[in-house]
Amino acid sequence: MTGPAPTGPDTTDHAPTAATPTPPLFTWSFATDPYPAYAWLREHSPVHRTTLPSGVEAWLVTRYADARQALADPRLSKNPVHHAADAPGKSKTGIPGERSAGLMTHLLNIDPPDHTRLRRLVSKAFTPRRVAAFAPRVQELTDDLIDRFAQKGAADLIHDFAFPLPIYAICDLLGVPGEDQDDFRDWAGMMIRHGSGPRGGVARSVKKIRAYLTELIHRKRADLADDLISDLIRASDHGEHLTENEAAAMAFVILFAGFETTINLIGNGTYALLTHDEQRARFRRALAEGDTGLLETGVEELLRFDGPVELATWRYATEALDIGGESIRRGDPVLVVLAAADRDPGRFPDPDTLDLARRDNQHLGYGHGIHYCLGAPLARLEGQTALATLFTRLPDLRLAVDPDELRWRGGLIMRGLRTLPVEF
Ligand code: HEM
Repeated sequence: MTGPAPTGPDTTDHAPTAATPTPPLFTWSFATDPYPAYAWLREHSPVHRTTLPSGVEAWLVTRYADARQALADPRLSKNPVHHAADAPGKSKTGIPGERSAGLMTHLLNIDPPDHTRLRRLVSKAFTPRRVAAFAPRVQELTDDLIDRFAQKGAADLIHDFAFPLPIYAICDLLGVPGEDQDDFRDWAGMMIRHGSGPRGGVARSVKKIRAYLTELIHRKRADLADDLISDLIRASDHGEHLTENEAAAMAFVILFAGFETTINLIGNGTYALLTHDEQRARFRRALAEGDTGLLETGVEELLRFDGPVELATWRYATEALDIGGESIRRGDPVLVVLAAADRDPGRFPDPDTLDLARRDNQHLGYGHGIHYCLGAPLARLEGQTALATLFTRLPDLRLAVDPDELRWRGGLIMRGLRTLPVEF
């Protein structure tokens, strides 16, 4: 779920009439703190047509009610063939040139009935039982990573903790053998560092992942085990119409959708706690008292307050339709701004306040509708384990730099920090 890096100001086509001009979108300062611009859009131009830094024109949907409705609207397709400006073989949605290679024919790029069939198959393999059984392993990975820097008094929490945890967890879940996991970690790192810009690194790392997954599926077929790839192979062998390419694309989307998101849940969540003293103290008290209720509501609130997925992935109007009073033409791309919807004062009282005990918190951080996050139970497990262990084992954890010195990644879809230097 990556996107182009910000390059310049918003070059809005349909500038709304308002007392103040449209604030710049997709600049570096916007990447640091997009929330004031989103507040402006929600109020003055809630369904806003804009030209993205890539030159593609799209609609931004920023109010909670419109966002929720759009996410569940079957007239908004996930299949890029519906993009009016899309040429065959040219992907606007993800990694350049990969659509033709097959890996991009995955859950986030398809509609029913294919989506229904594939999602049903993977849901069987992605059972709550498998996730629950995974809890001790996630705890072990978390402790091992913290052990590596606990004595040093300082760390970069992105590099040393938030980045390796989900990749090792996903490798274990898929069934990538231990000796291959560092290669996998390098390829995944390349994908994130370069976003989806037209740079060779991304295409190269995706090619490596594709070749590796194809080979792994062959190896597993001869030696099925208790892991997700083996489950996918079993499903395809039982005549459930899952081709080998679909199995590889499924493994890829699980990596691609579950990796950077979880890094950013841990990164953005830790950052929010480190910059909100009262909430941090409350979090620590709850951990000391074994109050798991606050851990659960707290992680949900961190997802609402500054979630990893800033914009939901691309959708395309398959017919002319109306969203929030704006006429969307057939073929227009629609981007639902989850980060704006989750700060909508029409839905959340005091939306800019971090309240770890917030109830009635139906945030859109995991999306909504048929593409609702498949990995949400695993993400919750990883987020809760990571944050609870970090703040229990390093009780005086604090930022090592001024918040103004931190740099945010510039991708369109994801929101996350490049580094998070801490001391303890
Ligand atoms: C905090 C971490 C996570 C967040 C915030 C998150 C968020 C999301 C969101 C917003 C969507 C819907 C996108 C859209 O409709 O455009 C989504 C879909 C998805 N997520 Fe997650 N995700 C997280 C972790 C994970 C993990 C750990 C996995 C798997 C290991 C995963 C697998 C998926 C898959 C496969 C989809 C596509 C589902 C479909 O199209 O039916 N996610 N996620």
